[in-house]
Amino acid sequence: MAWGELNRVLGGGIVPGSLVLVGGEPGVGKSTLLMQAASQVAGGGGQVLYVSGEESNQQVHMRADRLGALAENILLLAETDLDAICEAITAVRPALAVIDSIQTVTDPGLSGTAGSVTQVRESAARLMRLAKEEAIPIFLVGHVTKEGAIAGPRVLEHIVDTVLFMEGDRRQELRLLRAMKNRFGSAEEIGVFAMGEHGLEEVPDPSAALLSNATTSSPGTAVVVVIEGTRPLLIEVQSLVNKKEGGYPPRRVANGFDLNRLHMLLAVLDRRGGVPMGEADVFVNVAGGIRITEPAADLGLALSIVSNRHSEPLPDGLAVVGELGLAGEVRRVGQLERRLNEAARHGFTRALIPAGSRAARPSGLEVIEVRTLAEAVSALFSKHIRSGAFIKEAGVSVS
Ligand code: TYD
Ligand code: MG
Repeated sequence: MAWGELNRVLGGGIVPGSLVLVGGEPGVGKSTLLMQAASQVAGGGGQVLYVSGEESNQQVHMRADRLGALAENILLLAETDLDAICEAITAVRPALAVIDSIQTVTDPGLSGTAGSVTQVRESAARLMRLAKEEAIPIFLVGHVTKEGAIAGPRVLEHIVDTVLFMEGDRRQELRLLRAMKNRFGSAEEIGVFAMGEHGLEEVPDPSAALLSNATTSSPGTAVVVVIEGTRPLLIEVQSLVNKKEGGYPPRRVANGFDLNRLHMLLAVLDRRGGVPMGEADVFVNVAGGIRITEPAADLGLALSIVSNRHSEPLPDGLAVVGELGLAGEVRRVGQLERRLNEAARHGFTRALIPAGSRAARPSGLEVIEVRTLAEAVSALFSKHIRSGAFIKEAGVSVS
């Protein structure tokens, strides 16, 4: 049942006359989410018009059946012609209309093929007017590729009222629904779901789900605490450091983490942390297919890199919080108390945090304050520093 999480991300529920874009990579679960939303509206007695330009009525019907979402008052329409779609919406006057997807819709009065920038933009603008005139909420599905290249969501962001973005690794269960823009609520909120055999289910304790496969004792792994929307999340980050190939520039690959931010962290590690990175390929992965957007994960990610470089796991039960500045300083982050509570609640026994933070310390959690990256490195890897192995190993690949 995905309804509470969707309402939370929408900022309280479906607003009449709103145009909402649900973006995400193909296969992430957009149609599933919207069919389940349709089922909820139908269950409350509202009429839903579900327009699919991608699948036949039979295919949509089969999905609905699998989701247990079949309902008399969900009308299916396999249609791509915008005139016909608008006519159907005006005639049915549904409590909710879904257009799956905007890339398949064509306005016959316009040039260009389905999915072209002109078609996508102008179709959405027309649906926006219709939504407002008739006070009918319309949800649009928009596919985005990993590169975000195809016409679609990017050109629509300015037109629609709300942009929700669904993310997650298709091979795994977890899905995040993120509000990127919201005229009717917070643009920061997230909803967390798990994709199962019967569609999406709400995940009431995302940290537990994210940590279920955690391998905290392996070198290169760290657990960070980020705040997404209004909730703290414990997330496992992993790094792999390898000696780079011959004459090529080093490779830096980031999954779920901003690549520019990774470059910055590597420069800070190199210049301020005493960990030479010039000869190293670095690969970074955020578990669960999650994308980290908060700088509070900086310190944890940097330490996961150091940990892998030294083939030395971070201490068991350690959670790391802190932003890194260019001078190698560990900066304070907001809502530290909630982060520490989340760590404690999930059985963490130690937390590395920015010095000078005035957060209450939950009992059972040993708190280590650090002012700089170098301090954090020496707090965790002092053995290496004492023996000189730290400096020696740093020049070559040890993993
Ligand atoms: P879908 O909603 O069709 O993705 P999108 O509309 O974003 O392209 O869902 C895609 C994947 O979800 C598909 O690979 C199958 C999987 N899935 C489930 O695991 N369980 C389900 O109940 C459903 C309907 C889909
Ligand atoms: Mg789909």
